[in-house]
Amino acid sequence: MKDVSALIQENGAVQDRSIYWNEDIYELEQERIFARAWLFLTHESQIPEPGDFITTRMGEDEVIVARHTDGSLKAFINSCPHRGNQVCYSEMGNTRSFTCAYHGWAFGTDGSLITVPLEHETYYDNIEKSRFGLQQVAQIDSYRGLIFATFDASAPPLKEWLGDMAWYMDSFMAVPGGTELLGPPMKSILDCNWKVPVENFIGDGYHVGWAHAAALDAIQSPLTSMKGNAPGYEPAKSGIQVATHGGHGMGIIWDMAAALHVNPAYHEWLAYRTAQVREQQGEWAAKLYNGHWDASIFPNCSFLYGTNTFKHWQPAGPRSIEVFTWTLVETEMPEELKQYLAVMNMMTFGTAGMLETDDGENMEGCTNTNRGWMTRQGKLYSGMGQINEGPHSELPGIVSDGIVCETSYRGFYRAWADMMSGKSWEEMSRDATRRSIKEVA
Ligand code: FES
Ligand SMILES: [Fe+2]
Repeated sequence: MKDVSALIQENGAVQDRSIYWNEDIYELEQERIFARAWLFLTHESQIPEPGDFITTRMGEDEVIVARHTDGSLKAFINSCPHRGNQVCYSEMGNTRSFTCAYHGWAFGTDGSLITVPLEHETYYDNIEKSRFGLQQVAQIDSYRGLIFATFDASAPPLKEWLGDMAWYMDSFMAVPGGTELLGPPMKSILDCNWKVPVENFIGDGYHVGWAHAAALDAIQSPLTSMKGNAPGYEPAKSGIQVATHGGHGMGIIWDMAAALHVNPAYHEWLAYRTAQVREQQGEWAAKLYNGHWDASIFPNCSFLYGTNTFKHWQPAGPRSIEVFTWTLVETEMPEELKQYLAVMNMMTFGTAGMLETDDGENMEGCTNTNRGWMTRQGKLYSGMGQINEGPHSELPGIVSDGIVCETSYRGFYRAWADMMSGKSWEEMSRDATRRSIKEVA
């Protein structure tokens, strides 16, 4: 195993290529990142009623997320404590219990063991059922409808984990009625390492004009001006990139929330809501609300606000992921507008979406070249914009002066390195490199 402390260098700007390929590093990620971090599960809108459930994964652990009879949220591992079989094969539904197909143990929507077949005749009523519930996550919580859980009882509270990222997201989530995800999610497989799409969404403004040139041409939207990195396009003036404490981050292009939408209903909604956000949350929130965002929540959840796509990149080995894609909408939007946005999401970032396929091919390429032993002895570089970033007078996090840079890449990899080195929560929370590189300099 390579020296973990040497995998990320130059303050997050240099990555060892083995982190996208090696089995042992992937296994360590499962232990040190996915078994500790708060991980996205689903949205409350997907399981509104008692008995509603979905199945998903936390790292490679299969979990059931359920709304219990008392209305509380529960999440537990989808594996029977008797002999280990899966207790639920459905992706979603409503149930009173989960019954194992092997010997018939049945569990409640809180994961507790309710029924054991032949309990009296075979166990002579001498089985302590409270010992054999489905294994619970250590903490589960939701932030404005987004449900997360962690296997680490000592992890900081969710609000603290999200930190400044929550402050930014409030601009479009703390609106009257809040937001919801339209599901069930589209699902697809990509043959890439899970970190590649996360870094793409967290702040790759660089690829948009190039990798998506043909799609931008076809779409004919205000973003088409980025096509082919044409002269006259000034990325430094068009927006910001932000790395927030804990490895979350985003790129925001000002005034582009409606860039991909020709439907006047969306423009009307945006104008109506912007005025409200300005009044309720202030000028910066209104500016953020009107921007187009690419963003990632550490470690493996991303979204595009403005294009209304919400992604969960679930690792399935070091070189494969399962992608879940929902449509992100505001709850109070008219039903027809929600449906329009769902169709647009499908056309752009759905499984066969125009922009998704551009990205997918690049993501697979970035992973699979590392098959070569010699190739993966090398490093990758994300050093763009290091001299044009720092604390901002009004916005939290490390803020760059343009949309095309790699500020949030570096924030993500600093957090990745911190967790992979096995630092305690206390060490990580006082580590200034997670806040601002200017403070360290
Ligand atoms: S493995 Fe589930 S009841 Fe035996
Ligand atoms: Fe892209």
